[in-house]
Amino acid sequence: MGHRPAGAAWLAAGLCGAAAVAVLVGGCDTAPPAPTDPQAALVAKGRKLFFEETFGGNGRTCGTCHPVENNLTLDARFIATLPPNDPLFVAEFVPALARNFENPVLMRQFALIVENLDGFDDLANRFVMRGIPHTLGMRVSVASPQGPRTGWSGDGAPGDGSLRAFATGAVIQHFTKTLNRVAGVDFRLPTADELDAMEAFQLSLGRQQELALPLPLKDVVAQRGQAIFLDGRLGKCNFCHENAGANANFGAGPIGNQNFDTGVENLPDQPAKLTAQRVPRDDGLGIPGDGTFNTPSLVEAADTPPFFHNNAVATLEGAVAFYNGDAFNNSPAGRLLAGATGGGIKLDATQVQAVASFLRVINALENIRQATELLQATRRAGGHGRTARGSPLRQAVAETEDAIEVLADADLHPLALRHLERALAAARKALRGWVSVDSRLAEAIAALEAARVDIVQ
Ligand code: HEC
Ligand code: HEC
Repeated sequence: MGHRPAGAAWLAAGLCGAAAVAVLVGGCDTAPPAPTDPQAALVAKGRKLFFEETFGGNGRTCGTCHPVENNLTLDARFIATLPPNDPLFVAEFVPALARNFENPVLMRQFALIVENLDGFDDLANRFVMRGIPHTLGMRVSVASPQGPRTGWSGDGAPGDGSLRAFATGAVIQHFTKTLNRVAGVDFRLPTADELDAMEAFQLSLGRQQELALPLPLKDVVAQRGQAIFLDGRLGKCNFCHENAGANANFGAGPIGNQNFDTGVENLPDQPAKLTAQRVPRDDGLGIPGDGTFNTPSLVEAADTPPFFHNNAVATLEGAVAFYNGDAFNNSPAGRLLAGATGGGIKLDATQVQAVASFLRVINALENIRQATELLQATRRAGGHGRTARGSPLRQAVAETEDAIEVLADADLHPLALRHLERALAAARKALRGWVSVDSRLAEAIAALEAARVDIVQ
């Protein structure tokens, strides 16, 4: 399987210009023509920088920690698939980075990364261990009246704090060849043009708009979960995650992407702290920190575990159950919420499951939306470049796999799952085969639509 005669590859490559042959074989596998629309060209330039540019540093790219095939984030299972010489692991094979740059144990076991958010002058003591947020849906999850909020504590970017500036801070933190971190020696800083392009690319990722809840969901459990999520006397989630996004609204109108101290740092038995490794307390926004963290969007949550800034919780159900515990209900945000709504958050097991099911279903719908868009783009390009690493078709396959996983893990929507399996099989055939590529893409798109219709009216 997956093999084709060398002659056919040669024929396809050699005769690519001939339209008739291109139709016959379903498009040639060369790179698509460069986009002519200026915005698309800027996004394409940013994409290339994000996944390929090392900025003269230790070999890492942004894609080292934000790989497109894993929803632009890392988890321990994905890290375990990487070869030992992957630049993620520079601390394991570059002597100058062996100490105080990363913690290989915590990286491999919990996907935690060292961040020196309070400056680089005491590397042995001033650091925090953080998970890697996906960089999806940032067009709708960064703005607040207090300015842009990026990173887990909202202050991840240097300078004006903007998403545009974030890349500069990431290069200094993660790309350096030595701990001296001298620009021009250990790495080079991105230019203004490169920052523009990377910003445009990052803003193009994932959702471009908020959901409008409630959705007419068909599964009764997910539907109940949505009602609990929205209920200001029960789940109370919508106050901070309006429309399952990253923006707050306490009833007086939208107030953007806010920071809260929800007590995650006070969780007992945090996995990373059960090891013999040093994990300093993370004080959140500012220097010294005020203990607050930035609200992440939840539409993208189900397929981007583990959860919270310190990757303390491995499952979505566990992350929902967090809100029932003392760590949350005794936290500054928990007390405020209790004062305003007549009590803390207290969900029973069936309700936790319902809310998590709702989050799984909206994540599956987002995966289906993205996969459909990517398959359509592959069709428009006549199948060009479809087998390339990170191609829209490969990404469509990954999104479809995610949709299957998030539903199957909670026994949701068995019928939609069968349509998704069909979509996956057709997309994989389009990826590997050389005949009828376009009709297989069309078949995958139709099967995704059938799955969607089974999930939402
Ligand atoms: C070694 C791993 C690593 C590399 C390489 C890396 N990042 Fe990140 N990224 C992280 C971590 C960890 C965070 C969380 C930082 C924080 O909380 O402030 C993060 C956060 C982000 C965020 C914030 C997302 C949000 O929702 O607020 C953006 C944007 C981002 N990275 C972009 C980049 C760009 C652009 C590059 C390349 C120049 C890059 N990253 C390289 C690990 C990495
Ligand atoms: C007071 C505001 C607030 C309320 C209410 C709230 N959240 Fe959150 N939520 C946050 C913040 C802030 C974070 C990030 C905390 C951290 O990492 O330290 C977060 C993180 C999460 C995460 C982890 C996402 C990820 O990608 O790691 C999930 C899941 C989540 N919340 C679900 C819910 C659900 C479900 C409810 C209702 C039961 C809820 N939240 C209520 C503010 C809130």
